[in-house]
Amino acid sequence: MSLAARRFSILSAALLLASATAPLLYAQQPLDPARERRIDEMMAKLTLTEKIALIGGESTWFTHPIPRVGLTSMRMSDGPAGLRSGIPAIAYPAPVTLAASWDPVLAQEMGASLGRDARVRDVDTLLAPAVNIYRAPMDGRNFEYLGEDPWLASRIAVGYIEGVQSQGVSATVKHFAMNNQEFNRHNASSDADERTMREIYLPAFEYAVKDAHVGAIMNSYNLVNGIHATQNGWLNNTLAKQEWGFDGVIMSDWISVYDGVAAANNGLDLEMPFAHYMSTEVLLSAVKSGQVSVATIDDKVRRILRLMLRFNMIDRKPDDSVSLFSESGDAVALKVAQEGIVLLKNEGHILPLDVDRTCILAVVGPNASPAVMGGGGSAIVDTYKSVSILQGVADFFYSAPSTSACPHRVLYDSGWPERYDVFHPTHFDKGLTQQIFTTRDWTGHAEEIVRPDLNEDRIVTSKTGSIRWTTEFTAPSAGKYFVIVHDGRAADRHNLSVDGQRLPPVTISPNELYYVPLPHPLAKGETVHIQLDYLPNDNEVYPGLGVLSENDILSARARRLASSADAVVIAAGFDKINEHEGMDRTFALPPLQDTMIRNLEALNPHTVLAITAGGNVDMNPWIDRTPALLYLWYPGEEGGVALADILFGVQNPEGKLPDSFAKRWEENPTFNSYYPQDKTPTSQPQIHYTEGVFLGYRYFDSPSVDKANVQPRFPFGFGLSYTTFAFSGLHLSRTTMHADDPLMVTLTVRNTGKVAGAEVAQVYVGENNPALPRPAYELKAFLKVRMQPGESRTLSLPLNRRSFAYWSEQDHNWKVDPGVFTIYAGDSSASLPLHAEVTLQ
Ligand code: BGC
Repeated sequence: MSLAARRFSILSAALLLASATAPLLYAQQPLDPARERRIDEMMAKLTLTEKIALIGGESTWFTHPIPRVGLTSMRMSDGPAGLRSGIPAIAYPAPVTLAASWDPVLAQEMGASLGRDARVRDVDTLLAPAVNIYRAPMDGRNFEYLGEDPWLASRIAVGYIEGVQSQGVSATVKHFAMNNQEFNRHNASSDADERTMREIYLPAFEYAVKDAHVGAIMNSYNLVNGIHATQNGWLNNTLAKQEWGFDGVIMSDWISVYDGVAAANNGLDLEMPFAHYMSTEVLLSAVKSGQVSVATIDDKVRRILRLMLRFNMIDRKPDDSVSLFSESGDAVALKVAQEGIVLLKNEGHILPLDVDRTCILAVVGPNASPAVMGGGGSAIVDTYKSVSILQGVADFFYSAPSTSACPHRVLYDSGWPERYDVFHPTHFDKGLTQQIFTTRDWTGHAEEIVRPDLNEDRIVTSKTGSIRWTTEFTAPSAGKYFVIVHDGRAADRHNLSVDGQRLPPVTISPNELYYVPLPHPLAKGETVHIQLDYLPNDNEVYPGLGVLSENDILSARARRLASSADAVVIAAGFDKINEHEGMDRTFALPPLQDTMIRNLEALNPHTVLAITAGGNVDMNPWIDRTPALLYLWYPGEEGGVALADILFGVQNPEGKLPDSFAKRWEENPTFNSYYPQDKTPTSQPQIHYTEGVFLGYRYFDSPSVDKANVQPRFPFGFGLSYTTFAFSGLHLSRTTMHADDPLMVTLTVRNTGKVAGAEVAQVYVGENNPALPRPAYELKAFLKVRMQPGESRTLSLPLNRRSFAYWSEQDHNWKVDPGVFTIYAGDSSASLPLHAEVTLQ
């Protein structure tokens, strides 16, 4: 089949997939009678003790084998962006990058590739995808998740799971449920009303079960409405197993069980990685005392065996002849990065860069090299390949033909000032007084000298005594200043005081220099008194002390490169050290990056800023002066190649935001409800989701919500391209209908620009006069199309009953009220030029 034909068949498959969502079509997966018989036979051979052993992990990644009955163990591995099975594997872009591609077909390809990676590593169950909804930029796991919208997240998750499972590997949808922050994750309770959960936080799980027939669900660490997920009977038994018809295994997160009997009775089937609580000891006596029934244990065992048989885990023999590394997987990683990177700003069309006119390209910034492929935590992938931004850009640039008039040069610097940028140049009015004490506490006699500056000279102490430097600094101009300290040896300790006030210990240490911000900005000519008390660990010390204005936070080399280059690519953002599970990150970029960006942008108007992050960041310090902004999310092992392709126009950017990017954290709908009041680590803080269903664009775009005209900086679904598209001809297959009738939305998209590119047609549905507060409109269908310049495509996007429904707490069901609905279409939640009405009777 030709590539174009294949793409077409995949697209029509996606269409079918999108249309097969009417609730009535959701049937429980019929159980395979032959498989159920084999389970019966196996169960008959197991003792109760063996059955209980089976429902607790044997070690980090394995369930218990029971060789007596020929039962092997099930092997699991993370995770959402690549295999973590102890053997290097392909590092795909972070799932949020995949969500930004708005391409469920690509999700299927990435899933299939991950499934293959798992199978050739003898992994039976992949611990992915992770589908929790984006509530706030600080959540340390946003990069693992799929954005703010339940429909987008569902379609990406379904594609991904189908891909993984097509390879004979079970997927695990996680973290069930409402793990939307990493703050105090074992104790925090995510509290929301049922409508909010049903409409926003649960659909991705629901569709994973109903549409993709996912093999496993992983419960989250947190509590949901006051009950830990692993013992939340409503989530596990009522919803997943009974209502959605889930026939697979609900497993715990790694150490997220808190009560064995409660977990056993409330739907948890497998405790991982060990049976701490659902142990033989606990459950045997619980069965004896009647607290847990044998039928309950049997159901868990039956589910585990069913999963193992369904994916052939028991009978499969390892096949070591298959290559562990696949070029096709690498190509998928590249494609996801190319499709998922979002162009947010391109003033004066400075992108794409013209290879013939760009002679010197400077690549500067902390994330340019080495490669920043993903966030941290259990999603880290040990990869055998990693293309940094520097390498990707340099490879591309040097392989492009250059002329003698314009020989190509790529220049690089991390941007952080080096010690020689700081210590000698600092002018201390009266030099520094250095005192070396023989004691360890700066008391007693001291050898004293005065020196002009303090820069790395080897200072020999009297056998590890203590040292004190005192000096004065006068600000040459008004502004913010930092005292910079270098302590030469990690084990040394130092205390810094300014004007007699001890400054807090410092954690900002790029390039091993400690930056201590002065407590207040200095006026021109203002003098401060600085004292550095230093406790060396050795009798040789290589210290440094200097003062740097905020405007000088840039290495001298980066300053030269940026001033002389034709264009500058700044690579900044988070990485696996500062954005990962188990903690929340800051909204602001990591320390001092804002300042570095501003300083670089002041030197060269042709700067392109490439940000690495799992969600929004505070852009206020630089956005007005940033001509071009590319959002990389986390672009995986081929990130450098993908970015170069976009920078030079080989790839037209086509990513679209899966989140709304607010201007300020205070303007987010969750600002008042993200963190609990009580932040003590031991308490069980409650996080009340008081914004309800008005999350992300559902908040920004709903005039009914009081928010003083606050608009996001970049709306949900937004992303620029090197070409332009026009939407026209919205047509509905009916204008009056019953809620159960299918509705087909057709519209035409035309590539009105000069280059080929892809656009995502987004269809939103809003009820004109809802009986209860509803978002103005909600995403209910989308389709991505690639088009040549001048090409037009008429697209058909199906809607069904659920597209119009809300969760009625009263009826305890999805409900569609008769009335007029508006169907909107366009290229972001804030740009919907087409609309038409349909009346539901
Ligand atoms: C994470 C899970 C992961 C598990 C196993 C936990 O810390 O929350 O997402 O699958 O570890 O690595």
